[in-house]
Amino acid sequence: MTQSTTQLMNLPSCPNDAVDVHVIQRIVEEHNQTRGALIAVLEDIQAEYGYLPETALRTVAEATGRSLVDIYGVATFYRSFSLQPRGKSLISVCLGTACHVRGAPMVVEEFERQLGIRVGETTSDMAFSLETVNCLGACALGPIVAVDGHYFSKVDPAKVKSIIRKARLGLSPVEESVA
Ligand code: FES
Repeated sequence: MTQSTTQLMNLPSCPNDAVDVHVIQRIVEEHNQTRGALIAVLEDIQAEYGYLPETALRTVAEATGRSLVDIYGVATFYRSFSLQPRGKSLISVCLGTACHVRGAPMVVEEFERQLGIRVGETTSDMAFSLETVNCLGACALGPIVAVDGHYFSKVDPAKVKSIIRKARLGLSPVEESVA
C-alpha cells in the first residue's frame, strides 16, 4: 500500500460530508472532454462544497475510471485544494525568512490564541481557517498576513484583533497596512 493510499484511508470523517453523487457526476460529465479535466473537476467540487470530501473523490474515481490514488495525488499536490472543510475565511500568515525575523511567529501565536485554534485548524463556527505559508512575495513589508486575498503588511500581535474583526465584516483583495 502506498503512502498516499494510507493517508487517504486515514482521512478524517466530516459530519458535513453530505455529498450529492449526482452533483459530482454532473461535474465530471461537464469536464469530460476538456484538457486538464481532473483539475477542473476538483476545482468545481471544491467550489461546491468548500473542500474535497472523501465521498466526492471516490465518486470521481468511479466516474472517470481513474485510480483513487491518482486523484488523491492531484488533490494533495496543489495547495489550493483542501481535503478538510475550510472556514469561510482563510488566514495565511507568512513564516518566510523575512517575515520570521520580523516577528511573524508571535503573530501566528496571537491568531491561535484569539481564534482558539492551532495552525491547520478551523474554528468551530466555520468562520476561519488558519495556515502558515513560506513567502507571499512582499518580504520588505513583512510580517505579511493574507486573508481571502487581502494583504495586511507590517503586522504585529497587537493588530491581530483588528484583522479578525475586518475579516468578519468582509475584505476586498487589496493590500493594507493596519495602523
Ligand atoms: S517572507 Fe514573508 S512575504 Fe516574503
